Formats: sequence, structure tokens, C-alpha cells
Amino acid sequence: MRIAVIAGDGIGIEVIAAARVVLDAVCGRHDIPVDYDEFDWSCRRYLAEGAMMPADGIDQLRPYDAVLLGAVGWPGVPDHVSLWGLLIPIRRAFRQYVNLRPIRVFDGVESPLRDAAGVDFVVVRENVEGEYSEIGGRLNRGFPDEFAVQESVFTRAGVTRIADFAFSLARTRRGYVTSATKSNGIVHTLPFWDEVVASRAAEFPDVRWDSEHIDALAAKLVLQPARFDVIVGSNLFGDILSDLAAAVAGSIGIAPSGNLDPTRTYPSMFEPVHGSAPDIAGKGIANPIGAVWSAAMMLDHLGHPDAAADVLVAIEASLTDPATRTRDLGGTADTADVVRALVARLK
Ligand code: IPM
Ligand code: MN
Repeated sequence: MRIAVIAGDGIGIEVIAAARVVLDAVCGRHDIPVDYDEFDWSCRRYLAEGAMMPADGIDQLRPYDAVLLGAVGWPGVPDHVSLWGLLIPIRRAFRQYVNLRPIRVFDGVESPLRDAAGVDFVVVRENVEGEYSEIGGRLNRGFPDEFAVQESVFTRAGVTRIADFAFSLARTRRGYVTSATKSNGIVHTLPFWDEVVASRAAEFPDVRWDSEHIDALAAKLVLQPARFDVIVGSNLFGDILSDLAAAVAGSIGIAPSGNLDPTRTYPSMFEPVHGSAPDIAGKGIANPIGAVWSAAMMLDHLGHPDAAADVLVAIEASLTDPATRTRDLGGTADTADVVRALVARLK
């Protein structure tokens, strides 16, 4: 495996270093050859050189099997600069149209909800169109009649492929898809989403499915999180649901994600859901589990499901013991303690 590593900013640097140590251990155990090239693309680079990545950055990443990313963002660099200068161009140029975000409540991790036993679902977020569109603009800047317009874009091809991904994934799980919508209020794009999802559902008669308005779905995720299996949503709905879901699971520090090109034409990118966390950066206390689990998703995507499963078993074990849980999870461990525990299990 040839992996492009973009640690990025803040705790991205620490959690990616941790994930690499764990990856090395599991790859050693499974005889998987792995090498990494580091790219220092980040807000540091932006402040020094005026761009998050070089002009040919996408071409530099193209030959790799996958990209492992830490986090981007730092005070002093506006978020829309850091994100639209690195993360979002990669997702788009490599047509990573699925953002896959699994959620589990692990033994030893306390959910803020009273009844969260058995929570195990996946958010399948559309990742390249929808509400995150560059189509629109601003007019009359600075005048009282200034205005902004941004168009959501839903294409038949885009909704079809994300729905197909969700239904196919459900077949490998508990066979149940929930589609997030808001077609009662948003009267063009989301009725279209509903129609396309329904037509794809007909091709998967063995998968049970339903459709929930995003507002009610948010409430149900809090009230009955264990009933969900695969939740499919547009770019913005999926974004919001995945943070909500990560909170339900006890900490955003453990939530992983894969930005996938299921056609495997381009490299996919794996990153923890959390950000660069400037408040705790450099202290060695960040929770590395989100990054490590993302690395496990990468192993799975690159054809090493057994190695990925071993990492998950090690994660589960580390989370049961407060001495190997970080502080965000009520434990006492530093990042390095968690890494040691994971590696000990994988040797
Ligand atoms: C995420 C993040 C990004 C997104 C932001 C930082 C642009 O929230 O990966 O979920 O909304 O996609
Ligand atoms: Mn988000």
C-alpha cells in the first residue's frame, strides 16, 4: 500500500502519528507492505507560502492507493480558506462521492443518552454535490440591498449512486436503510431525492427502507438510536447527522470517516471526523481512536478486511479500560498510552 499522509494542523499531527504506529503494527502482523509519503499541506504552509497545497497538489496525490488525513484548520486562517484549499478540492477531484461514517457505542464509553446500548449504524453522506455547491454568488456588496444566493445541486446520477451505495451496504449489515429528507419544506430538490431513492430501493427488494424528515430524524437519533442501520443523506444533512451521531456515541474523538470513490478510479481519503482542536493541540492528550479507526477503514477499503477487524478488536479492548482511554472519554490516558495499548494487542 502506498499511502499519502497529510497530517494537517493541530492534533491532526498527533493523531496521524499515532495511527501510523498502529498501522505499522497491524501491517507487520499481516505481512502487508506499507509505505508513506508525508505532505506538509496545512495552514502552516498557507501562512508561509500562501496556499494550503501546491498548484499540482491533486496530481501529486493521484498515484497513491489512499490518502490519510489528520485535520485542517487553524486560528488566523479563515475556515473557508483552509477547507476549500485542501479538503474539499481533494474530495471533488477524486470523485469521493461517499462519505462513510460509522457510529458505535463501545463498551466502556459513556453515551450522553440514557439508553444507547447496542447503537451500531452508519451514516452514508453524499459528498460532492447537494448543498455544498459553488453555484451562486453575492450581489450589491456593502449596500443595504446586498444579497447572497447559493444553489443546491441534486443530480440523478449523484442521488442514484449514493442510494445504491447505501442499499448495497445495508445488504452486508442488518438490511435497513433510512433516507434523510425534507421534502415537506424544500419542494424541488428533496422530492427529487425521494423519487430517485424510491426508484433505487425497488432494485433492492431484500432491503427494508424508510424515509424520515431531517428534523424528526434528528429527534429519533436521540430517542431511539439503536433502531438505525444505514442512514443515507445529502451532503449537509449527512454532515449534521454525523456530528450528532458521534456525540450520541460518546465522543467525537472516536468517530472515523472514509471519503470513498467506490469505483476505485481515484484514491479514497480517510480522516477522523474531529477537527484540529487548537485548544489541546501539542499536549499529547488527543484521542487517537478516530484516526486509528479511519486507518482501519482504509485497510478494509484496500482489501485487507482481516487486518481492519484486528484493529477494531484492539480499539474495543482499549476502550474498556480507563487507563487506556483518553480524558474526553473519562479515562486517564495520554495519546501515547492508547497507542501502546493498541500495539500491544496487535503484536
Ligand atoms: C466534515 C467537516 C467539513 C464538512 C467542513 C470542515 C467543511 O465538517 O468533514 O464533516 O462539512 O464536510
Ligand atoms: Mn462535519
